[in-house]
Amino acid sequence: MQITLNDLSRFKDPASLTWERYVALQARERERYLAERATIPAEAMAYQTVSRRYLERAVDQFANNYYSELSATHYIATAAANAPFDELKKCCLFQLADEQRHLEMDREVFERAGIPERNWLPAWEAPGTTCRFFRHVLELDDTIEILVKANFVAEGAAGPGTFAVLADGAEARGDVFSAVNHRARVRDETRHISFARALVRALIEDDPSNLDVIQRWQDESLQLFVEVARSGERREWWEGFLASTATCARDKSAGIRRECPAPAERPRVGTSPGRRRARRRYARRARSCHRRGTPSCR
Ligand SMILES: [Fe+2]
Ligand SMILES: [Fe+2]
Repeated sequence: MQITLNDLSRFKDPASLTWERYVALQARERERYLAERATIPAEAMAYQTVSRRYLERAVDQFANNYYSELSATHYIATAAANAPFDELKKCCLFQLADEQRHLEMDREVFERAGIPERNWLPAWEAPGTTCRFFRHVLELDDTIEILVKANFVAEGAAGPGTFAVLADGAEARGDVFSAVNHRARVRDETRHISFARALVRALIEDDPSNLDVIQRWQDESLQLFVEVARSGERREWWEGFLASTATCARDKSAGIRRECPAPAERPRVGTSPGRRRARRRYARRARSCHRRGTPSCR
């Protein structure tokens, strides 16, 4: 079932981007990302500051990030190629460039965390991931259906909220690189949601009966997401993930359930003097913690 926008003047890119503005915006964004990334300590970039348990559990999350972005680069390219009018094609092409960068960030996470590539796809295809939804979107060729399902429903419903939680959760477990990536990613995703919302509004104003089709697309999409939350299949994984903050081996052997003081105080990324001081303090505590003969803090 396809729907069309008859009055094209109803759709305007809410970000009013031109090629020049987009390039300038992305140059600024890139600078900000690289500055934040430059403040991440080398051990954190090498994933030496997270627990082994975190890494085991986080593979699924890394796969969810990486393959969602990989899917996005493909489906938004299809949406751009088949776009029924230029203003919409332009928004899709800008998004394609965004998703390509997100994909590169997620690939680097896998590589720096030392996770063999043969383990990536099985993690994505395991039950309870967003794989089923994205594979469905990849089969579509209608631009409006792709944008409603992927941008309006999936990114709109699941995107920004989830990324904030993922960033905070990763940071609390010592994965500062993932946290910086999630915060950079969400700044683009909100733009993808906004133009899809503008499109949905234009479609409904153009012909109120389009709402029925949009509702059906939303129901189909959410149905494919149900598996992600269904019947506690992921509960054990999730609880292990939540509990994956580092614990000192000495405390562990003594039966003390207490977090390693270093990870508990891991500072946020930033270049302000306060943040720099916090990072130095953290590094000191991490060293002293490891000196107590607890190399398996990580
Ligand atoms: Fe993305
Ligand atoms: Fe996106």
